Amino acid sequence: MAKLAVNVDHVATVREARGIDEPDPVLAAGIAELAGAECIICHLREDRRHIHDRDLRLLRQTVKTRLNMEMAAVEEMINIARDVYPDLVTLVPERRQELTTEGGLDVRADPDYYRNVVERLKDKNIRVSFFVDPEASQIETVHQAGGDIVEIHTGHYSEARTESEAEERFIRIAKAVEKAASLGLDISVGHGLNYVNVKRFHSLSQITEYSIGHSIVARAVLVGFERAVREMVELVRPF
Ligand code: PXP
Repeated sequence: MAKLAVNVDHVATVREARGIDEPDPVLAAGIAELAGAECIICHLREDRRHIHDRDLRLLRQTVKTRLNMEMAAVEEMINIARDVYPDLVTLVPERRQELTTEGGLDVRADPDYYRNVVERLKDKNIRVSFFVDPEASQIETVHQAGGDIVEIHTGHYSEARTESEAEERFIRIAKAVEKAASLGLDISVGHGLNYVNVKRFHSLSQITEYSIGHSIVARAVLVGFERAVREMVELVRPF
């Protein structure tokens, strides 16, 4: 049965909007685990725009399931990962101007570099996942570089404007899943998945994990809004 991995970055984004200490992504992670999430993800960006080093280190101490540290494959992050010991690392491309991760990592551009990164992480017993577009050649290179897991980028699928575009993009993902399965890689999917478009993936039984962040945080704001307002109404009412 597939597992849900919850990305808590955007809880930190709300915190950073005020520059204070709430809402705390570490508390959100605990609630996610109580609700059944089997992995917590956070992306420590080079610019620290949402998750901070403090969050990562506290998550390492408090997460009971598995901690997945998303990161760029750069020296600073490799050293932090080797120090913090997340259960797994997901290597992603990172551009400072982007609002969120915009595409898969081009592993083919430098397989030797990535092989070396994998070795340095595995040396510390950290499993390595690569976030790639649904392309057979990228998935083969992940396998050759020694990756354990391939996370297939579903962002383009989630942005499809018509049903036929969605179907065509879903078929590309389905083929990529087949390819990864044939190589014995663990398979996860993520980016842009929400309460509507995730259902189509039921047919792809080789997927072991779903990485989902934004839509869960967005829904939490709305499903929790009424209760939050009621609680404040009680507090401001004259006795
Ligand atoms: N997977 C990867 C590699 C990501 O970078 C992100 C976004 O941080 C996600 C999954 C989750 O995407 P979303 O927030 O759109 O659910």
